[in-house]
Amino acid sequence: MFETITDLGALRARIAEWKRAGLRVGFVPTMGNLHAGHYSLVALARQHADRVVASVFVNPTQFGPNEDFARYPRTPEADAAGLAAAGCDLLWLPSVETMYPYGAGGAVRMHVPGVTDTLEGAHRPGHFDGVATVVTRLFHQVQPDVAAFGRKDYQQLAVIRYLVRDLAFPIELLAGETVREPDGLAMSSRNQYLSAEERARAVEIHRTLLAMREGIRCGWPREQVEAEAAQRLLETGFDPDYAVVRRPDLTEPDDAEPGPRVALIAARLGRTRLIDNLEFERPTPP
Ligand code: PAF
Repeated sequence: MFETITDLGALRARIAEWKRAGLRVGFVPTMGNLHAGHYSLVALARQHADRVVASVFVNPTQFGPNEDFARYPRTPEADAAGLAAAGCDLLWLPSVETMYPYGAGGAVRMHVPGVTDTLEGAHRPGHFDGVATVVTRLFHQVQPDVAAFGRKDYQQLAVIRYLVRDLAFPIELLAGETVREPDGLAMSSRNQYLSAEERARAVEIHRTLLAMREGIRCGWPREQVEAEAAQRLLETGFDPDYAVVRRPDLTEPDDAEPGPRVALIAARLGRTRLIDNLEFERPTPP
C-alpha cells in the first residue's frame, strides 16, 4: 500500500522493517512535478528492487541566486497520485528543516572535483555541490540498495557515479533513458514554463543534437559541428550556453578518434533554460 512519509524517524523505521524482511530497496530522487520521465525511473527501480521509494524535495542548495527556485513547480498531491499509480511504495517528502537542520547556509557541503568544472558546472556555479550535498543526505536517509537517475541530466549522472564510488555508498546506480515528447523534446518539469510559441520552437534542441551526430558521423571537424549547432540555435531564437561534442567522461575528443560520444546542449528560450543530450558512436574513419 502506497504511503507518504514526512518524518525521518518514520522513514527509517519503515526502511529498517523492509530490510529485516530481506527486501531490496530501490530509490528515485526527484524535485517533484513528476512526468513520464520520472515514472519510467520508478518502473526501472521496480525491476531491480522489491520496494521503491521516491523523494520529492525542491533542493534550495542547487539553485543559483538568479535561478528558478521560487517559481519551480510544486505539485505534491498530483505527484503522490502519480507515484502510487506508477507502482511506487513510499513517497519521502522531507521539509527543508529535516533536510538541512542547520539551515541551507549552515549545511555540511559536498564537492565533487573534476567532472563538475565544465559545462553545467561552469554555467551554474555551485549547482553540482548542491546536488551532491542533497543526494548524499537522501542516500543516508533512505539507505537504498539501488537508485535510478535519468540520462537527460548527463553530467549529473557522472557526478553521482563519482560520489557513490568515492564515498563507497553500497548502492547500485541505474541510468534511465530520456523520455521524449512525440516531437522529440525531452520531458522536463521546466517545459511548462514555455509559451505555446516557445514550445513549438523547443524541439529545435533535439533536431540540433541529431544534426551534430550526423556531422560527427560524416567526419566533419568537431569545432565546426559545434559552431554550426550554436549558430542554428541562435537563428531559431535560443541563447545557447553550450552546444558541444564530448567523450563520455566529458573531455574533448580528437577529430579522427573513433569511439563513444555525447552531444550536449544547454540553451535559453525566453526565461527557460533547457538541457538535452544525445549519445552515439563516432565510427572508425574508412
Ligand atoms: O535531478 C533532479 O531532479 C535533482 O537534481 C535531484 C537528483 C533530485 C537532486 O535534487
